[in-house]
Amino acid sequence: MSDYKNLIVTTKGEILFITLNRPEKLNALNQEMLSEIKVAIRKLYMDNTISGAIFLGNGGKAFAAGADIEEMLKIGDINARKYSEFGQEVFNMIEKSSKPIIAAIDGFALGGGLELGMSCHIRFCTQESKLGLPEVNLGIIPAFGGTQRLTRAIGRCRALEMMFTGKPIDAQTAYNYGLVNRVCSKETLLQEATELIENIITKSKISLGCIVESVNSFYEYEEDGYQTESNAFLQCCKTEDFKEGIKAFLEKRKPVFKGK
Ligand code: COA
Repeated sequence: MSDYKNLIVTTKGEILFITLNRPEKLNALNQEMLSEIKVAIRKLYMDNTISGAIFLGNGGKAFAAGADIEEMLKIGDINARKYSEFGQEVFNMIEKSSKPIIAAIDGFALGGGLELGMSCHIRFCTQESKLGLPEVNLGIIPAFGGTQRLTRAIGRCRALEMMFTGKPIDAQTAYNYGLVNRVCSKETLLQEATELIENIITKSKISLGCIVESVNSFYEYEEDGYQTESNAFLQCCKTEDFKEGIKAFLEKRKPVFKGK
């Protein structure tokens, strides 16, 4: 029996399929799901019979609509930093995997959902997908590496506009920005992702690992950016605006921010 409560993890051939599985909450990432992702990625690292992984979301409406906002109510001043650093740790593991990982995005990839997608090596999405970092609407900032990875992926101007406005972009814009590798139809998304990964894993595993390591080293001088992000997230979590942002989302109304 599976030990996962928030994921469906299956293998087909040499590929691990990791499905985010809280469809009633648009696959929002709670702490338990993040811990389970860590377990699944550890399996990818350790299991010699597995050569690559694909992330996807259950329910047909979302890859993941962000970190679990309800759970954020419990974040106090002390553990806001830990909360951010744990997300960063799990997503760094994904980014550093010597085995290829593809995000197959169908629907909303928002906040932590996009941050998860951006930590994968390759991203495909469907025409219906919406990608964004809407944390500003909650009085916080992306804290699982999103400020760093979005800027790397699409450049400072576009990243700032997306994070300032919180407005999601559509699939074609994401493709034009270089945020996704390919836009697929709903029907072919998984098949196209599987075909690509099947091709990649026929290559030398040593070469693949060395490519990931070398590409990641291009960004290593930016490592401090993750600490800056965690510190800034902690600052936001201490504010009245943060409480108002979360409350407004749960009450299904627009927040009224006072800048304190
Ligand atoms: N955390 C917790 N619950 C979430 C969630 C999140 N990030 N995103 C969606 N949900 C829940 C909703 O509260 C709702 O639960 P309910 O049925 O118990 O009320 C359910 O998922 C369906 O979402 P709903 O908002 O009714 O769907 P929609 O189609 O009207 O809107 C979105 C979809 C994605 C636009 C909207 O859910 C949204 O804005 N989500 C938050 C996105 C966000 O800010 N992410 C960053 C978080 S740090």
